[in-house]
Amino acid sequence: MPAFTASAPGKIILFGEHAVVYGQPAIAVPIPSLQARAIISPDLAGPSGRIQLDAPDIGLTGLVEDLPKGHHLRAALDQVLGDLPVQNIPACQIRLSSTIPPSSGLGSGTAISTSLIRAFSAFLGQRLSDEQISAMVFEVEKIHHGTPSGIDNSVISFQKPVYFRQGDGIRFLNIPTPFSILVINSGNAGDTLRAVMELRQAWENDPEPYNRIFKQIGKISELARQHIENGKIVELGPLMDQNHQLLVDLGVSTPKLDKLVTAAREAGVLGAKLSGGGLGGHLIALVEDHPGSILEALINAGAASAFVFQVAANP
Ligand code: PMV
Repeated sequence: MPAFTASAPGKIILFGEHAVVYGQPAIAVPIPSLQARAIISPDLAGPSGRIQLDAPDIGLTGLVEDLPKGHHLRAALDQVLGDLPVQNIPACQIRLSSTIPPSSGLGSGTAISTSLIRAFSAFLGQRLSDEQISAMVFEVEKIHHGTPSGIDNSVISFQKPVYFRQGDGIRFLNIPTPFSILVINSGNAGDTLRAVMELRQAWENDPEPYNRIFKQIGKISELARQHIENGKIVELGPLMDQNHQLLVDLGVSTPKLDKLVTAAREAGVLGAKLSGGGLGGHLIALVEDHPGSILEALINAGAASAFVFQVAANP
């Protein structure tokens, strides 16, 4: 029996986070240079059903049966076992690794679940479609986020830029013109679960002002989709700035994120915003070709690190 390997990329949300949980559209793209990987090897000497887990990047080593029932890695494996007609699980060892920074809005947990589900189902003799994997990851996401929109599992399972709206299915973006995104680590961990829960509480107490903001964000995502698909990249900058302000109004930014957004703009980016759940984590900026001086300005303003990646054109 051979070993099975599967990987899944990190991601950023370009536009529409949080509003997407309330039925508005959002745009996300994968980051191919950041990857989570699962390698599953048979343990020929082990008893049937024994699954050994080795995940040094998240400080976890041991038997799956010893993990608490609601643990997201156990939940990911249970998704596969619940769906496939498996009588007998061959003993195996699962090695998980990831270059995606955790708790920072870059999709680390989602990518780990995706690579694990893809590799484990292949190990059990079933090649699942991206759609099937995305649906299983979505179930696991509920442990991370409570009420996930479905955008993270979609962009990461399909590994393609997506325009996503709950209930509408996924639209893959046509990208005629590539563009560069600077991804900036604020140096503080994000907290998507808390941000999503606090926003829901505030929305339940007084829905109207929040619904107005969600609609404005939805319009920005739709406009951004049109600009991306028409190759009008420069137009995305002001939309990012507006989206950031609306996220501030929703209460999911922090003084540090705002400071870094301002520093990025002063250093000459075309637009900047927080990305993902917020309350820390990463921000993103639209940049032209050589952002060396921008990077320096951001580090001086307190950013922990930053890297550029290109959203590639597709045929
Ligand atoms: O996983 P994160 O931190 O990138 O956040 C996901 C985006 C949210 O809109 C805040 C939540 C969701 O489920 O869409």
